[in-house]
Amino acid sequence: MSNSKKIAIISIAGILILLILFAVTQIFSVLNKGFGWRSLNPLKMPVLLEDKNKSPNIADYELIAQEGTTEFIEGLKTDTLGYNGSYLGPILRMKRGEKVNITVKNQLGVPTTLHWHGLLVDGEQDGGPLQGIQPNQSWNPSFIVDQPAATLWYHPHYVGTTANQVYFGLSGLIYIEDEISRKLELPKEYGINDIPLIVQDRNFRRDGNFDYSTSMMGVIPGEDIIINGTVKPFFEVSEEKIRLRILNASNSEYFEFSLSNKVSFQQIASDGGFLEKPISMKTINLAPGERAEIIVDFKKIDQKTIFLMNNNLSILEFKVSENLKSSNEIDESLTTIEEIPIGNNPVTREFILESMGINGTINGKYYDMERIDEEVNINETELWVVRNIGGMMQTIGHPFHVHGTQFQIISRDGKKPPLGERGFKDTVFVQVGEEVVIRVRFKHKGIYMYHCHILEHEDGGMMGQFEVR
Ligand code: C2O
Ligand code: CU
Ligand code: CU
Repeated sequence: MSNSKKIAIISIAGILILLILFAVTQIFSVLNKGFGWRSLNPLKMPVLLEDKNKSPNIADYELIAQEGTTEFIEGLKTDTLGYNGSYLGPILRMKRGEKVNITVKNQLGVPTTLHWHGLLVDGEQDGGPLQGIQPNQSWNPSFIVDQPAATLWYHPHYVGTTANQVYFGLSGLIYIEDEISRKLELPKEYGINDIPLIVQDRNFRRDGNFDYSTSMMGVIPGEDIIINGTVKPFFEVSEEKIRLRILNASNSEYFEFSLSNKVSFQQIASDGGFLEKPISMKTINLAPGERAEIIVDFKKIDQKTIFLMNNNLSILEFKVSENLKSSNEIDESLTTIEEIPIGNNPVTREFILESMGINGTINGKYYDMERIDEEVNINETELWVVRNIGGMMQTIGHPFHVHGTQFQIISRDGKKPPLGERGFKDTVFVQVGEEVVIRVRFKHKGIYMYHCHILEHEDGGMMGQFEVR
């Protein structure tokens, strides 16, 4: 046999062996994640932050951004960041109409900011990149809550370091309550039948530390999906109906949630609050920054073990008790959602999303703190047309988020949005090639951001500034 033939045979054999090895490892990893998935830890519940003001119409809260270590995996310590603790932050409860004063202390040793994602407040209280808090300094925002009941969240927003600070643990939830949420027949007992799910993907190193790595293409997706900072969580269900308030707090992962055996559940709220009525569904997609509230009826499902899944992988086990406490029926009608009124010739703006791997632009521009990209009149409804034109090495969608407003999605590629997106939103996922039209109105003044909520894109410049006057 000639030498060149030998080389050819050897290399073909080599390639075959590699292919077989690859297939075997793939099969193993699927087995590992899918069928062999076992829950290990009880789902952690964030603390409800204590309001230090006795007056019923004023709330005083304190948040301290700090470093710490967290034991996610038994016997291993992970370096993390948190608010008032080592990982994530407490839940801030706010009532519509009340005044909220917050002291945010920065004990991180590096600058940070604290942004109230979804909250309608003046630009100066918004906690965006312009409200930087230097190490050992405090920031004291104060505002009156004036928006419907909703599940919102907070996280840092410092230019260039947001992704990192969020990855290591800085995020928390905000619950807004109002007349309607108080009256509705819904599960409301925190930790019992009203459960927050802060969902994040993470990679761990052997020593227990997070492995946060990015490449030109973006972030390396996490092997583990953790919920409220719990690895492989389970939750013991003691009542028939459970309300889950789900936040996708990942830097860049897109989740497609469902329940095992594809049983259905009801969505009751989107980013900005309740939908008009509960919607029955089997899967719900959340892009980074988006929230949804759902009701799961475990009596109807009638199984002892049920999993919350992301795609085909289990991420949370529900252990259902033998004697479930009965729950009342959910209200048929939750709220009324009026269309944001709009004039005859509304101002229309276009936002072109384009990205190259980990960087991105909006309307061809990278973020510049010194530049105001758009000027908007207060209380005047506008149409914003958001288009994702893809880009080099970019096949994924961008979650487009706007500060200082809860908007309405008018259309996706000319068609009405799905039922779950007909409520108020502050973040909308826009697929490559897709065009989404939203109706926005701002009721407060100041400088705000719009950006892609893939945090590496945001840090990489995919953000703009507008001023409401
Ligand atoms: Cu979740 Cu600019 O924010
Ligand atoms: Cu925001
Ligand atoms: Cu993006």
